[in-house]
Amino acid sequence: MDRWRGRLALVTGASEGIGEAISRLLVKHGMKVVGCARNSRKLEAIEDELKAEGGCFIPIQCDLSERDQIYAMFEKIKTEHGGVDVCINNAGMAFPSSLLDGTPEEWQKALDVNVIAVCLCTNLSIQHMKDKGVDDGHIVVLNSLGGHRFIQGANHLHFYGGTKHMVTALTEGYRDELRQRKSKIRVSAISPGLVESEFVVRMNPEDPEKGRKLLQTRPCLKREDIAELVVMVLQVPPNVQIHDILVRDTDQVM
Ligand SMILES: NC(=O)c1ccc[n+]([C@@H]2O[C@H](COP(=O)([O-])OP(=O)(O)OC[C@H]3O[C@@H](n4cnc5c(N)ncnc54)[C@H](OP(=O)(O)O)[C@@H]3O)[C@@H](O)[C@H]2O)c1
Repeated sequence: MDRWRGRLALVTGASEGIGEAISRLLVKHGMKVVGCARNSRKLEAIEDELKAEGGCFIPIQCDLSERDQIYAMFEKIKTEHGGVDVCINNAGMAFPSSLLDGTPEEWQKALDVNVIAVCLCTNLSIQHMKDKGVDDGHIVVLNSLGGHRFIQGANHLHFYGGTKHMVTALTEGYRDELRQRKSKIRVSAISPGLVESEFVVRMNPEDPEKGRKLLQTRPCLKREDIAELVVMVLQVPPNVQIHDILVRDTDQVM
């Protein structure tokens, strides 16, 4: 990770779960991490905790479903910190409704955060890299096993799985366009099965115990396992591009 020491990584959804673990590990490796999320109090607490580490954590409050806020965040990163070298598109969400019970408002929100924000943050990061003459930048996307397969009967994941299937296609699209432009910027995805985080708890805000019980009774990866995979993806030599890591807990059955 020596190559990345002192360079800037944007991590979306850094206030909790996988994004928080990725941010902590990248700061330990000496990176300057801009962590964004809506909950600024949690981001500031992480900033305080990481003050003694090798790199630093810079919190920026940003609701990724609001495009103006995304543009403003990138402007701030450019003017105050010189621009993005690595973009970790981590933030994602789901609603508990099945497809047949879902509403357009829920679908729009999931599309805004899981798909539109990923594309916008990717484009703006690549623009930063171009502006500062960086051709070894890296885009990492948190996809899901649900972006590669269909789980029969998991009704609450049907729309979410649709957004992650889009992420699978878009990741290939970005790679293709970057190669057409002879860019060396790399694009990698990580597609986990169940991970111990706030995700399933938040998905059922009216019954958080249901999510907690699921995490206690099913084999799941730790958020730190995913952070280690991000570091692995970033530290392979520049001629090596890891396309996608499909990963689940050793004991996870499906
Ligand atoms: N956990 C799993 O089992 C699992 C499995 C496969 C893939 N994934 C993927 O992994 C990624 C991370 O998930 P996680 O498990 O870490 O989820 P999590 O614990 O629920 O954390 C989600 C993070 O995203 C942020 N976020 C959500 N909506 C946002 C918005 N509108 N604007 C800005 N930030 C927003 C949250 O912060 P604020 O609330 O403060 O905004 C939080 O920091 C997601 O893309 C998810 O689809 C998770």
